[in-house]
Amino acid sequence: MPEMDPSEKKVLVTTGIVLMLFIFSVLYARNRNNDLPECIPYNKTYTEPKISKIDDSTYQVFAVAKMWQFEPSKIYIPVGSEVDFYVTSMDVVHGFNIPEKNVNLMAVYGNINKTTVKFEKAGVYKITCHEYCGIGHQSMQAEVIVNIPLNK
Ligand code: CUA
Repeated sequence: MPEMDPSEKKVLVTTGIVLMLFIFSVLYARNRNNDLPECIPYNKTYTEPKISKIDDSTYQVFAVAKMWQFEPSKIYIPVGSEVDFYVTSMDVVHGFNIPEKNVNLMAVYGNINKTTVKFEKAGVYKITCHEYCGIGHQSMQAEVIVNIPLNK
């Protein structure tokens, strides 16, 4: 059997290392249990904005983006709330960005994106559109207003 060329050996060893790194990184990413936004299938698309209270500290926000506003535009929740944001668009592609909470979603017609955010601190959290969507893009804003409940 003819000897293997040394450069072939190098290629094989390098390929093996890269392959192992790849498999390792895929397994690592899967086990990290990181909170990736979900993409919910088209046939469940909603069209009406809605805020649902699940319990005292759990809310669902069904946000609708359209030229050039978000609905609901003001979302009032108590401190410590966990909010599931569902995001869709009625027209073009918009963005759904809450910089302080590292939320960065796209609002796409016929599609729903979802993420979950916990608001531990009181304050006003701006929601902005960060996909250029036309002449009124810069005025697309909404707010999450996190308050300390009055009865506590
Ligand atoms: Cu909507 Cu930019």
